[in-house]
Amino acid sequence: MKVAVIGAGTMGHGIAQVSAMAGYDVWMYDLSQEILNSAMSRIRDSLNKFYAKGVVKDVEQVISRIRPTASLEEALSGSELMVEASPEILEVKVDIFRKAERLSERGSVLATNTSSLPITEIADSINEKGRVIGLHFFNPPQLMKLVEVIKSVYTTDETLNMSLDFVNRLSKKAVIVKKDVPGFVVNRLLARLMNASCQLLEKNYASMIEIDSAVKYKLGFPMGVFELADYSGVDVFYLVFKAMKDRGFRGDVCPTFEKMFSEKKFGVKTGEGFYSYPGKGVYKKPEIPKEAGTGFDPWLVAAPEVGEAFWLMKTDTASESDIDTASMLGLGYPKGIVQMGREFGLENVKDRIKKMAEITGKEEYSYLLQFLE
Ligand SMILES: NC(=O)c1ccc[n+]([C@@H]2O[C@H](COP(=O)([O-])OP(=O)(O)OC[C@H]3O[C@@H](n4cnc5c(N)ncnc54)[C@H](O)[C@@H]3O)[C@@H](O)[C@H]2O)c1
Repeated sequence: MKVAVIGAGTMGHGIAQVSAMAGYDVWMYDLSQEILNSAMSRIRDSLNKFYAKGVVKDVEQVISRIRPTASLEEALSGSELMVEASPEILEVKVDIFRKAERLSERGSVLATNTSSLPITEIADSINEKGRVIGLHFFNPPQLMKLVEVIKSVYTTDETLNMSLDFVNRLSKKAVIVKKDVPGFVVNRLLARLMNASCQLLEKNYASMIEIDSAVKYKLGFPMGVFELADYSGVDVFYLVFKAMKDRGFRGDVCPTFEKMFSEKKFGVKTGEGFYSYPGKGVYKKPEIPKEAGTGFDPWLVAAPEVGEAFWLMKTDTASESDIDTASMLGLGYPKGIVQMGREFGLENVKDRIKKMAEITGKEEYSYLLQFLE
């Protein structure tokens, strides 16, 4: 089966690699031979690491399944599944989908890896709208097990089933996002956690270290909230949260994120974010002592996330088990966020959301409460 990966950057080269590792023949497109060479060398480096761990038996064989090409026509002609991983610009994606509709196999899947653009709007730009779907991989695709599979209003069952087969064959775990909502599942959960944490910081209710320590050591989250923002990029979260807000997500983007975005304090990549790093792109784990979080209740920032999970369930956007899977595989939580909320007690969750409403005066918290009734 021929898979076309369009865009060979951070995500595209990883998606091409995991597809080839699963046995697919992959055509990988980007604008120039230079970019493609760099993508191929990243793939080779990663495969060598997998080889050293015994995950891949024959690096050359996997490499031979990937054909880098700077011709979009060549990449798409006769492809049976496309994953588009081009820049987050609607016009660029629309142009690719129009060509893909014409050049690929009839009825084949046309998937986008977009983080924040509406899948339905991309589908609207072509005739056979039912072929379009979101396949949202996480960074790095070589290691992250989760893929959010997002239906647009047009996606056919056939497209959905072919996409689920593809994700399974990559040995990844698919969660189905039944409605094309801004932020899908993982970014909606994260937006609640990050905004609540940021609001408490702005209100001087708690310090960055207190919050980060408490979520790590009391809740068992893999990173502190601000530590994660720096690690993945304050710019990435700001742009995704802003796009979500613009599309109707009920919640303000915390002004501190906006300020840091405009000052280019993106975190690890710029050497300065919520924490400071030794240099641009030089990662040094921030010091977050366990005792620092003793006086802070991390459920103040986790409860809104549970509220969001109930929004997803009550609006029939995602199932409880898929939300729990997404929070464990996408965010590295020790248990699913719904399970954590249920174990803590939904009355306690509501109590913390009410407290957030009192502290911040934000209407998003009273909005969330109704979904926990
Ligand atoms: N980086 C992440 O953490 C992440 C995670 C999930 C989803 N995404 C989404 O994946 C997509 C790609 O993101 P990325 O981080 O890999 O970006 P990137 O900038 O690393 O890669 C994009 C690639 O697309 C190429 N490109 C530019 N114009 C093109 C065109 N007209 N046609 C085809 N390719 C073109 C660029 O040369 C570049 O190599 C975006 O939609 C993004 O929202 C990113």
